[in-house]
Amino acid sequence: MIDFHTHILPNIDDGAKNLSFSAKMMDLEIIDGVTTIFLTPHIFYSKDFFLTCKKVKQTFDCFCQKFQGKKVEFLLGGEIFYTDILFDALHQQQLITLNQSRYILLEFNLHYELENVDNALDDLLANGFIPILAHPERYNYFTISRLEELKSRGILFQLDASSFFGDFGKKAKKLSHQLMAKDCVDIIASDCHSIEKRGPNLKKALTYVSKKFGVTAARRIFETNANHLLQKIKESAKTVPLS
Ligand SMILES: [Fe+2]
Repeated sequence: MIDFHTHILPNIDDGAKNLSFSAKMMDLEIIDGVTTIFLTPHIFYSKDFFLTCKKVKQTFDCFCQKFQGKKVEFLLGGEIFYTDILFDALHQQQLITLNQSRYILLEFNLHYELENVDNALDDLLANGFIPILAHPERYNYFTISRLEELKSRGILFQLDASSFFGDFGKKAKKLSHQLMAKDCVDIIASDCHSIEKRGPNLKKALTYVSKKFGVTAARRIFETNANHLLQKIKESAKTVPLS
């Protein structure tokens, strides 16, 4: 399996506190059968933005060196918090896309919808980027019809495994089921932040999706879609400069 969204990279955000926690999280991923892990720390735009990007890259390099013996592939990414300076970051070669590909894991404000979301997504698409919206089911202002509208623009949806188990409340659980029913789910990731609460849980999600929505749907998401996306990310790897 492939985990496209994790907070395993240590000492960057609210994920792994140190390398020892990272190692434990990674071991849980490996036990689950995960073979490729994207390390996607939160990237917020603040006065420390450029320092954060530098730290993320340095930490990723150390991380890969430290864990090179593990039978798992590590790829760098970021969970980019959307603001309108996203294109500035891109032009300054500081936008951490997934493996420096054209695919961007994007997160919106969880509590209120920004006015220019549609234009921003269209701009990204027009410039050859493919936004992957992180956990669309968790934004409490989105309805299923609004999400369908966003999806129809050509973006991808990544659901959090924990949403299916009710960890983010009833609305997120309901939306995750509705999105599955409407065939709007591209990939499911763990978005893991720790070892137990919000820990790696892709195998549990695979079992859940297989039971609730059928083996065919589960295979489509966890195998076909995931492998296809990984291939696409690798095809356009290193095309987005990162200084
Ligand atoms: Fe996340």
